[in-house]
Amino acid sequence: MKLSSSKTLALVLILNSSANAAPSPHPAAAYSTPRFLDYLPSSLRLLFESPDSFLSPQDYGYDFAGDSSSSSSSSSVGPFSSSNHHTVCPIDTPVSCTLPDDPTGDTCCYENNGLFLVTQFWDYNPATGPADLFTTHGLWSNKCGGGYEQFCNKNIAISNATEVLLSLGKEHLLQRMSYSWKDISGRDADLWEHEFNKHATCMDTINPDKCYDSDAPKWQYVGDFFETVVDFQASLPTYKFLQKSGIVPSTEKQYALSDILEALRKHGRGTYPRLGCTRSGALQEVWYYFHLKGSVVHGHYIPVNTTVAHSCPDQVWYYPKGSGNTTPGNGGGGSGDPNSGYLKLSGQPGCLISTGKWFTSGTCATFHKKPAAFGGITLTSSKGNCDVVNGVFSCARSNSLGQFTEDSDGNIVYGGISGWSAPNVPASNEQVSIVSGSDATISFQLQLVFK
Ligand SMILES: *[C@@H]1O[C@H](CO)[C@@H](O)[C@H](O)[C@H]1NC(C)=O
Ligand SMILES: *[C@@H]1O[C@H](CO)[C@@H](O)[C@H](O)[C@H]1NC(C)=O
Repeated sequence: MKLSSSKTLALVLILNSSANAAPSPHPAAAYSTPRFLDYLPSSLRLLFESPDSFLSPQDYGYDFAGDSSSSSSSSSVGPFSSSNHHTVCPIDTPVSCTLPDDPTGDTCCYENNGLFLVTQFWDYNPATGPADLFTTHGLWSNKCGGGYEQFCNKNIAISNATEVLLSLGKEHLLQRMSYSWKDISGRDADLWEHEFNKHATCMDTINPDKCYDSDAPKWQYVGDFFETVVDFQASLPTYKFLQKSGIVPSTEKQYALSDILEALRKHGRGTYPRLGCTRSGALQEVWYYFHLKGSVVHGHYIPVNTTVAHSCPDQVWYYPKGSGNTTPGNGGGGSGDPNSGYLKLSGQPGCLISTGKWFTSGTCATFHKKPAAFGGITLTSSKGNCDVVNGVFSCARSNSLGQFTEDSDGNIVYGGISGWSAPNVPASNEQVSIVSGSDATISFQLQLVFK
């Protein structure tokens, strides 16, 4: 397998580095290793050596010398993980998003939230990651019809990705993550943990209690997920896809959005990704879409077109890393400034009170908005953290601090859904719960209105 052979290669390079043997394909491999490394087991040396001092992109799985692209149109990719502890899925496992919700079938082989996104950043300022690499944002499982669940299972969440991977003996995977999965403010491991806890805990098919045999190491599902993310990302080298069509970063000229999309379709997986741009029209994110046949870690991913609108103008800046204005409000920051206001419902009387309920005959509560770690916003009231609990908006001490976003019109969005609803307009002195989505009778949007 690609991964294990790269690992072997890296180890061989280290062991050879003092031997002055035949010329290495990686000139940097001939540099002498810092002394303290000599005292470490060879597997651990990998961690302390700066990645690019002896590994080439190929060693991270970014191996695209051979042009597979023109033949790749709409063919499935994966599986990406070598785990042999996961439930084996039948060959006729249905493709995600083809069954009605809540199938009775084996959840270790079918994802209900079956629209997968492989998301990448182009963080050009501050320059983040290699100059010719769209860095990893994550692997997300969205609902087939739009929106997503988040932070689904605290019991399988992680707070120390690095130690978990070391306990699995996955030093090389850790190094590959450090190369390509970069946080804009340098908190790489925090980003990995955030992505795992927000998205991977919502994926049924990697549930450690149901989908792994009893011999599996405790954190096998974490290693499998991260390995899948890194291999999947490496199979989508966006920079190279664009370069093949002559689209390279420039501060001088813009590119037509349609040309960028066409290059990514042609040299990528034969489908159109969704592009995200900054407010000044500079390319900042690429999201590739897939359906899944089988489990997240052993399945085949089938490319599909995006159904989400691009947030880019017709002419797009594609800046070299290190140029352009500071990348605003992406993974590192969150769009909102700290601020306070009332939560009002569009087209409806009244506002929300501090518990998060809708009230029409009293004083509005003050809600505080703060940027959330890795994007979006959080809301609190005098009653505590606001979150959506079993579909219902509420604020309470016992709540987790929910993650919301704001759309370009300033509407509060939860799980990718900007609509909210309630069974009825509150009668006098009645307090009514509001739910995420438009399923209840009265629909509206929610906005923080400044005092
Ligand atoms: C950190 O990871 C180790 C596994 O190596 C685990 O035993 C421990 O509980 C983890 N600690 C936390 C705080 O998650
Ligand atoms: C993606 O969209 C293009 C253009 O609309 C279409 O020709 C192609 O069949 C679509 N691919 C898939 C897999 O749906």
